[in-house]
Amino acid sequence: MKTRKVVIIGAGFVGSTTAYTLMLRNRVNELVLIDANHAKAAGDALDMNHGMPYIGGAKLWAGGYEDCAGAEIIIITAGAAQRPGETRTDLLKRNADIFDSIIKQILPYNQEAILLIATNPVDIMAYVTLKKSGWPVNRVIGSGTLLDSARFRYLLGKELKIDPRSVHAHIIGEHGDSELAVWSLANVAGVELEIAEDIKQKLFLQTRDAAYEIIEAKGATYYAIALALDRIVTAILDDEGAVLNVSTLLDNYCGVSDVYLGVPCIVDRTGVREALELTLTDEEQALFEKSANKLKALIDSLNL
Ligand code: LAC
Repeated sequence: MKTRKVVIIGAGFVGSTTAYTLMLRNRVNELVLIDANHAKAAGDALDMNHGMPYIGGAKLWAGGYEDCAGAEIIIITAGAAQRPGETRTDLLKRNADIFDSIIKQILPYNQEAILLIATNPVDIMAYVTLKKSGWPVNRVIGSGTLLDSARFRYLLGKELKIDPRSVHAHIIGEHGDSELAVWSLANVAGVELEIAEDIKQKLFLQTRDAAYEIIEAKGATYYAIALALDRIVTAILDDEGAVLNVSTLLDNYCGVSDVYLGVPCIVDRTGVREALELTLTDEEQALFEKSANKLKALIDSLNL
């Protein structure tokens, strides 16, 4: 029987905004916030519970790792976040150490959940989680380039004056500076996009560098990533079979293996059911391999 229980580890900007999003959209029956700073998690839970008379829904509380028991999904957002001027991969060593402790505390209470990773550098943190948990690939998922693809579709929609939900376009690869736009497959209603080269470059750079712009302006990003995590949680809990650009361990995907990257994946109650291989142009293939090689080198530096 599905209890629709979700645990969020990390009650920072992303974790608490994700909790609030899942609550507002009535996605879950039980929602647990866990944070090393229990007072913060408890304060968030109290603040959200006070809104329950207006939305009803989830049982929500601040708990401990014992509350991971019975959860279908455990979302990990905990870790150091980018400071202005920092790249996502600058966080690697700090967050890899934090994950070691987090995963060790989850395992005694839950061996069946889907682990959904949002902590940056998310592709590598998902790989670290896979290795440290020993869980099957389908149940260890990174938020990947789902957020980047949403940003890309939003910007394209603005440029074309079309609802972004009708714009189909992929950002794939690293959730980070080496990501790439699959322009060759971007379309509206199956019709290829007619956009001048200089505009395409501008829109891609605005997509790729969006986080830096937002972090510079307000210190962190959290609204769109929370909605991206909500999208993934819904696809899992509702067994949708939705195609989402999450991060998964590649196995000869466009010739790339043994690295987590954002690619179109079928997401259902089992987690990532399958990665859907895109047909890339030679230029896109080269950029994809470059992204993979960048992350593989960083993974090697961890000596897992
Ligand atoms: C961003 C963070 C989630 O891209 O990496 O906003």
